[in-house]
Amino acid sequence: MHCPPSASCEADPIERASRDELMGLQLERLKWSLRLAYENIPYYRAKFDAVDAHPDDLRELPDLGRFPFTTKEDLRQNYPFGLFAVPRDQVVRIHASSGTTGKPTVVGYTQRDIDTWAGLIARCIRAAGGKRGDMVHVAFGYGLFTGGLGAHYGAEKLGCTVIPISGGQTQRQVKLIEDFKPDIIMATPSYTLVLAEEMRRQGIDPAESSLRIGMHGAEPWSEGMRHEIEQSFGMRAVDLYGLSEIIGPGVAVECGDKGEGMTLWEDHFYPEIIEPETGRVLPDGEYGELVLTSLSKEAMPMIRYRTRDLTRLLPGTDRPMRRIERISGRSDDMLIVHGVNVFPSQIEELILADKRLAPHYVLELHRKGHLDALDVVVERRNAEMVGDPARDLAHQVKSMIGISVNVRLVDDGAIERSLGKAKRVLDFRPKD
Ligand code: DLL
Repeated sequence: MHCPPSASCEADPIERASRDELMGLQLERLKWSLRLAYENIPYYRAKFDAVDAHPDDLRELPDLGRFPFTTKEDLRQNYPFGLFAVPRDQVVRIHASSGTTGKPTVVGYTQRDIDTWAGLIARCIRAAGGKRGDMVHVAFGYGLFTGGLGAHYGAEKLGCTVIPISGGQTQRQVKLIEDFKPDIIMATPSYTLVLAEEMRRQGIDPAESSLRIGMHGAEPWSEGMRHEIEQSFGMRAVDLYGLSEIIGPGVAVECGDKGEGMTLWEDHFYPEIIEPETGRVLPDGEYGELVLTSLSKEAMPMIRYRTRDLTRLLPGTDRPMRRIERISGRSDDMLIVHGVNVFPSQIEELILADKRLAPHYVLELHRKGHLDALDVVVERRNAEMVGDPARDLAHQVKSMIGISVNVRLVDDGAIERSLGKAKRVLDFRPKD
């Protein structure tokens, strides 16, 4: 699609810089960020002092390895505003996680942070093939969750027409997609499939919709899920990554049709991959846990934040920034079944490969005697089934992943649909 001449359609200059220029900027910003944290946040100062690391010790980028990690637990301990580096009256926005396990984690933004974030989302939409004037249906939740408002401000900044529908009211969403004819949808991948399902229920073929680009994230998803979304809507489905502690959505995105891997906006976030057990920094290309340091955030700088997300760093394509591979799972989502490590997305991949099964599933953990047992509960598609898909899936899981599971087929609609992040694992094991 041709982009009309307009400032907002052009790449930011840093997207065309050399790798050396980018690294120069990173070093300068990293020094600033470390100093901001050290001088303004007593908690960071104490943590740095405890390992004898001072911001002046950072001479080159790899020196960052001398500084301590930050975890979700650090945010909880400083609830609500203890990690702010600026006086509260300079914080113009607060977001927070749902806090299902104890205290929520709270994050804050200055006006400049909000502008940076909007600029990055605008960059993401443009990199994914969107442009000024496109209509964007934002079905991420609005509120304390960063998805809705983050996407909203960025789409407006690019000059798009935003439909701030949020999650839920699925029938109404379908009507608005039919009536307004948006070009882009931003939603969790699981909710996008809920919309496709509702369209079909109403006798509408999602492939006939106006949507050209889907930007999906906030939860792990697989290539199989991408294929399902692309086939259903006849649109390109790109991966959008981010987390509230670092800024929200807009940390990394897949650019256009370059295939897998998300360009990580390294001018604002410095990535490292570590071995989760030891904290050792791994070379590019090796799999491990993504650790991110904010390079420009004012209200709440984050130094070496352990995301728990597992991926690896790949070289850049046509930008100086490196890419991250699709998130394979979170270290805290990993199931250990009979000693084998399993991520829900591995099972999702096998479900999506069988056309007799619908892309709606949950994994149930039970205790049978002393052993953990995994039940895969999956919906059958409406169409006539041939053979025994439950037996076939159990066989596939055994041969591809190496564990025995019990597959339960349920009727269409039996699995609760999520309006935001899907909950894929239900743990029924007794708490002991
Ligand atoms: O989910 C921010 C976001 C909103 C990202 C909309 C993308 C789109 P949190 O609620 O803090 O923030 O959750 C962050 O969600 O650490 C990952 O585990 C997961 N996640 C986010 N994007 C992806 C993705 C938002 N593209 C946590 N693929 C992260 C896999 C993702 N997991």
